[in-house]
Amino acid sequence: MEQEKIADCFMVGCWQLDDRSWKALSELDVERTIDTYLAWGIKRFDTADIYGRSEKLLGKCLKGRSDCEIWTKAVFFGAVPTLQQIQYKIDSSLRNLQRDHLDCVQIHWHDPSLDFASTFEIFNQYLAKGKISQLGVTNFNTTMLKRALEYAPIKTHQVQYNLIDRRVETSIQALCLQHKIPLIPYGSLAGGFLSNKFLGVKIPPAEGEHCRGFYYNHMIAKHGGWSAVQELLQTMAEVGQKYEMTIAQVALNWLKQQPGVGTIILGLTENRQQIKTDLEALQKPLERLDIQKLSQRSQALFQQVGDVYSYERH
Ligand SMILES: NC(=O)c1ccc[n+]([C@@H]2O[C@H](COP(=O)([O-])OP(=O)(O)OC[C@H]3O[C@@H](n4cnc5c(N)ncnc54)[C@H](OP(=O)(O)O)[C@@H]3O)[C@@H](O)[C@H]2O)c1
Repeated sequence: MEQEKIADCFMVGCWQLDDRSWKALSELDVERTIDTYLAWGIKRFDTADIYGRSEKLLGKCLKGRSDCEIWTKAVFFGAVPTLQQIQYKIDSSLRNLQRDHLDCVQIHWHDPSLDFASTFEIFNQYLAKGKISQLGVTNFNTTMLKRALEYAPIKTHQVQYNLIDRRVETSIQALCLQHKIPLIPYGSLAGGFLSNKFLGVKIPPAEGEHCRGFYYNHMIAKHGGWSAVQELLQTMAEVGQKYEMTIAQVALNWLKQQPGVGTIILGLTENRQQIKTDLEALQKPLERLDIQKLSQRSQALFQQVGDVYSYERH
């Protein structure tokens, strides 16, 4: 695959730009890192209203780059959002991103008591006015996605998906395929755990500050534990050896070949070598038998709890 087409398969996740995040990058480092991704041909970035300065920094770095898409999120906690709350979120995302429209707004909500009719009516009005080009959702379970589809043209579904967490395969994946809604995976590398860095590491590092530590460790404990991750990494390394690929490349290649998977989110890293190898992961597809081998190994090692991100909320 040509590099330009490969770049189309990825978008850069910008949770890492939150100034309260584990990375705490300087603005200069952020600008340099975004420039590196742009030089690789990346044209899509994922952020959220709740990622601190992330929207603002992206707006600054990508000012005037109408060829680049910035996908954001409207995250609602607690009560059903009011018209004013939704308007406030959209207006502040437009201001932060310095744009006259939002390329994609992904609604993040998990309480089934969401008033689907009134909430989506407001979003539909923004679509009609051209202030939002596309609506998506994130972490919606099967029931909620079905309901959302009754009220709005949902175009994408952002979900946690990797060889350890395959909850979406329970029923979300089939529903998305049926409605031609691409799955937009995040946590594709489980925060970096699915890489050579962690092969042979006996105890998961207590990186309390890194998303691996406070986010993906919890998921791993629930799905099968660290020794299961080590067994998976071993199999991934064996498969990788055949293709001269790193474990992270194997993880991304496997993910891209799953049914219904669209653009894969790669959490931003300032490490240029990681950027390079991650973006080169799809140059040569893994053969079907190796994809099967990885899927079977993961299936034997991990249990899947629920149909999408769920227990993490408690
Ligand atoms: N919708 C939601 O609820 C939700 C939840 C979480 C995340 N997200 C979105 O998805 C994005 C991606 O998620 P994520 O960052 O949590 O997970 P991820 O993409 O699996 O992990 C990204 C991290 O992995 C490390 N990494 C990258 N390439 C590597 C390599 N080749 N070898 C070893 N480590 C490597 C980097 O950390 P180092 O630079 O420290 O090495 C990087 O920051 C976020 O930025 C955010 O936009 C959405």
